[in-house]
Amino acid sequence: MRIDIITLFPEMFEGPFGYSIVKRAIDKGIVEVYTHNLRDWSTDKHHRVDDTPYGGKGGMLMSPQPIAACIDELKSQREYDEVFYTSPDGELLDQPTLNKSINYTNIIILCGHYKGVDERIREHYITKEFSIGDYVLSGGELAAMVLVDGITRIIPGSIGDEMSALSDSFQNGLIAPPAYTRPRLFNNWEVPEILLSGNEKKIDEWKHEQSLKRTKERRPNLLKDKKID
Ligand code: ADE
Repeated sequence: MRIDIITLFPEMFEGPFGYSIVKRAIDKGIVEVYTHNLRDWSTDKHHRVDDTPYGGKGGMLMSPQPIAACIDELKSQREYDEVFYTSPDGELLDQPTLNKSINYTNIIILCGHYKGVDERIREHYITKEFSIGDYVLSGGELAAMVLVDGITRIIPGSIGDEMSALSDSFQNGLIAPPAYTRPRLFNNWEVPEILLSGNEKKIDEWKHEQSLKRTKERRPNLLKDKKID
């Protein structure tokens, strides 16, 4: 999958994409990530990318010209499945949306800034707006990183043990059960006996019960539309 990120701060991505699963996926060629500095497309002599809103007070908006120029150039080179825009107004990003996203070949992510983007860009270029939570960040870069990380780690080949991505929290609509590793006794705290039993069926049942219990306690909203078995 090719991911083109349009941003005011391309350097911000070097850290998060330089480690762990995303770095390995990039190194293996499973994902290709390109960042584009929006200022490079501005025809303004000072490379400005923002302006004051018509009919409004305070705050700045992202100007349409550099965004349109950058997206037009990218689209002239290949077809894109989606043009995402990161914004607190967007649809909340969740695991089912990430799961659907792994089939894309090429996507663009426009990172929002200031008071947002000129509405005409939203109407004519953006195909999906997403938010990573009901709070406001200083810019959409962190949200773009979350999307790229969330997609990359579930693309087959990114994680060695494919089963481990499938057993993440949310993959079955539930929070993951408690997990333990060696030593069996730590600070006099025991590992639950069932996990040492070797009885796979019983262990799976226990894990499912624990997942359900945790989800009820911590995230009851996840159970609302779910058929519980
Ligand atoms: N930009 C600012 N806040 C955001 C959020 N919560 N999600 C996505 N993009 C944002």
